[in-house]
Amino acid sequence: MSEPIQIAVVGSGYVGLVAAMCFAEMGHSVICVDNDERKVAALQGGDTLIHENHLPQLLERYRNTKVRFMTDLGEATRSCQAIFVAVGTPQSETGDADLSYVEAVASEIARSINGYKVIIEKSTVPVYTNEWIRRVIERNGVARDAFDVVSNPEFLREGTAVEDFLHPDRIVIGADSERASALLSAIYAPLTEGEYYRRSDAIPGCCSTLKPPPLLLTSTKSAEIIKHASNAFLALKISFINAVSNLCEAADANVEQVAQGIGLDSRIGPKFLRPGIGYGGSCFPKDVAAFRSVAEQMGVDFSLLSEVEKINVNQKKRFLSKVRSALWTLRGKRLAVLGLAFKGDTDDIRESPAIDLVQMFLGEGCTIVAYDPAAMKRAEAELPPSIQMSYAAGVAEAAKDADALLILTDWQEFANMDLEQLREVMRYPIVIDGRNLYDPRHMIDNGFTYLSIGRPAATPIRETATLVI
Ligand code: UDX
Repeated sequence: MSEPIQIAVVGSGYVGLVAAMCFAEMGHSVICVDNDERKVAALQGGDTLIHENHLPQLLERYRNTKVRFMTDLGEATRSCQAIFVAVGTPQSETGDADLSYVEAVASEIARSINGYKVIIEKSTVPVYTNEWIRRVIERNGVARDAFDVVSNPEFLREGTAVEDFLHPDRIVIGADSERASALLSAIYAPLTEGEYYRRSDAIPGCCSTLKPPPLLLTSTKSAEIIKHASNAFLALKISFINAVSNLCEAADANVEQVAQGIGLDSRIGPKFLRPGIGYGGSCFPKDVAAFRSVAEQMGVDFSLLSEVEKINVNQKKRFLSKVRSALWTLRGKRLAVLGLAFKGDTDDIRESPAIDLVQMFLGEGCTIVAYDPAAMKRAEAELPPSIQMSYAAGVAEAAKDADALLILTDWQEFANMDLEQLREVMRYPIVIDGRNLYDPRHMIDNGFTYLSIGRPAATPIRETATLVI
């Protein structure tokens, strides 16, 4: 049986909170520190503050017992040997990651060190950050052998973060000392040795006692690069398929068939080949920019990443043109918008292509009635209600009298709409789908003009018959 370990997690955002809860679920005792008193009070009271599967149950089970929330980083440092740093690394104006929060945490930890500590970077940070953390701690008078800095990147997707944490494809530990890698290996032992998956109440996922996740031990710098390179590669895959989808549109081919054809090659794989309106969220846009900036600073030409970004921006412009071409003119048109979150199953609107597009349509003089199952409250701050912008309580309400309906987020609810009702309430039965949730033939059979990404436009016979699939 693995021994429980006292762990501190600094930061209670998506990464920190999920890590804290999952470490408790793995059997450890956790102190979760945040300098925002209101956040700490909310968490102590059982409010997760974010929409994330399994998190409410885990918080209910462990709050104020195996997971304590506090604002006092000094106390947390003194009582724990492993200190995970999961504070924000926002994007600065130049595209670099702003590491001021990481630096502030490192200085504060240094002031409270009372024995050997391992400080673990969990936030996404550029290569060499571990060295800076080390320098900051040493400058505060801490002896070199009193601590180690380790990189243990996370690969969590929002919406499935808890499952991703407990059933990871791999666990990467970048450590330059044996003492530090031994502590980290012990922390993850309940997963890597399969113990966790034997439990009858384990959260289900793809790992099992027979197939526990592999642990990859690397140097600290390699681990830092693994994190940025993974996100940049996934973003590249999305931009690649989006560029291919544009070619498919020009050639009257079907990108879904093309994606299936290339994805079946085991060297390429089928995942992250879904074309759409571009990637968004709190990670990909920021991490691609930060990785490009790191390369630039180190004198390495990585202009491939600029292309990835360019394709992503253009994808939104192309969608706007698609809507314009379907409606002829945009000014004064009433558009039903389904989806504001950057992807389905989350209320997160950070860098959401849906929000950008709504802003672009408002700029063109359209009237928007939007609906999202979870993200409307957050969206109101970016898109305040006005004569032009309003929110609906459901799909049918949003679609009422609309000149066209736009699908901007891949919520399951939008893939199962009552098409008959939709056709009846809309002014014109035109659906422009930025997420390819429907089979074009099915939409034609239901009387819709249907435009999607990288597939031939589908128009019922009574208009011009243009469907060639
Ligand atoms: C991502 C990474 O997947 C995760 O490993 C990392 O730790 C954090 O960043 P997340 O931002 O939660 O996770 O979302 P993800 O599911 O990866 O999607 C990112 C964006 O890409 C979304 O806007 C999504 O709609 C888009 N996307 C994803 C596509 O357009 N096509 C795809 O095939 C996949």
